[in-house]
Amino acid sequence: MKILSIETSCDDTCIAIIEVFDKKKPFFKVLASIVSSQVKIHKKWGGVYPTMAKREHQKNLTLVLEEALTKVGLLRKLELSLDKKSVGVLKKVLEREGDLFKKMTKFFAVKGKPDIEAIALTIGPGLEPCLWSGINFAKSLSFWWNLPIIPVNHIEAHIFANWLKISNENIKVKFPAVCLVVSGGHTQLILMEKIGSYKILGETRDDAAGECLDKVARIIGLGYPGGPVIAAEAMKFKTSNSRFQIKLPRPMLNQKNYDFSFSGLKTAVLYDFKSRPVKIRRLKSYIQEISFETQQAVIDVLLNKTKKAARNYKAKTIILGGGVVANKELRKQFQKAFLKEGLKLLLPEPIFSTDNAVMTGIAAYFHSSEIKNWKEIAANANLNITGNEI
Ligand code: KG4
Ligand code: ZN
Repeated sequence: MKILSIETSCDDTCIAIIEVFDKKKPFFKVLASIVSSQVKIHKKWGGVYPTMAKREHQKNLTLVLEEALTKVGLLRKLELSLDKKSVGVLKKVLEREGDLFKKMTKFFAVKGKPDIEAIALTIGPGLEPCLWSGINFAKSLSFWWNLPIIPVNHIEAHIFANWLKISNENIKVKFPAVCLVVSGGHTQLILMEKIGSYKILGETRDDAAGECLDKVARIIGLGYPGGPVIAAEAMKFKTSNSRFQIKLPRPMLNQKNYDFSFSGLKTAVLYDFKSRPVKIRRLKSYIQEISFETQQAVIDVLLNKTKKAARNYKAKTIILGGGVVANKELRKQFQKAFLKEGLKLLLPEPIFSTDNAVMTGIAAYFHSSEIKNWKEIAANANLNITGNEI
């Protein structure tokens, strides 16, 4: 079974084609995974502007689709005169998607239906204008090629990013599992009782961890996205060389709940930065030390709360997902901590930690009985994982 998946919940235009072989257990093969990054556009602003991100999705979607289909050899040539009635439907579906209608009519006139069985589609949570671009694009494909759509929850997809490795290495996942999904938009601790059965244990009350790193990078004059640049600066710092003795808070670390709060950490960085003379603020050694301390504060809170949840819920497996999990230091410290606890820790490959559509396709496989007609599909910016029972 081949699945074409579409993910536009934030600022990356992602399309993938996966093949699923499901004899006894599913085996996932990535045929194509294209991620068109908008980093250059959002860099100037130090964060994602939803309307600008939507415009970029509209520009990129057809190109990314063509690239994915070409890679898999599924782009069939065709000479078709489009019938007026169908074009009318297409126009209505894409009426809010800028010139995507023009692009799609051109595309459908010369490209035939590929050998695909279903479309996997992120419908939430995420930035609503961005979600809608991917959704309307998917609806046009579903209508034109007569393909079913399987709606996908983006948070659950981040968890399912691990199933690539699980299926390839034949890993048996023992439940309950405690999942930490930590990205630019979300920070959630989730109890997974089995595939498709979730309980949210805690989440951030303000900024997500990735959002905090992005904001800190902006304050201290580093680029966007903040996570990778802070990680690169932090790596250059050695604790024995501490010149500035920076001590940042670990918000909510000792509270009994599983919630997080990262906006205070960002404010603490702002105060420290502003309290320094300009010549110190520009010093490499200062930037490296404050980056290290920020990264460590984030890791300390995430690791401590995950350990506590694992103990209290008698977890047998720990599953991580989301862009911040691409962080090498975080991976190292989680690996060390859970090896000590004797628990299996699952980490997606860094390229499948950040947004991608492969994870969307895998999530769709597990929800393949939930096929929807394109007319029934809508974006839900606040979609909750607990409503996702299989
Ligand atoms: O999952 P993702 O690609 O998009 C969302 O769903 O939000 O996560 C993006 C976030 C950004 O905040 C980015 O700064 C962070 O992940 N990130 C990292 C690293 N790579 C990306 N944070 C820490 N270390 C990294 N290496
Ligand atoms: Zn994400």
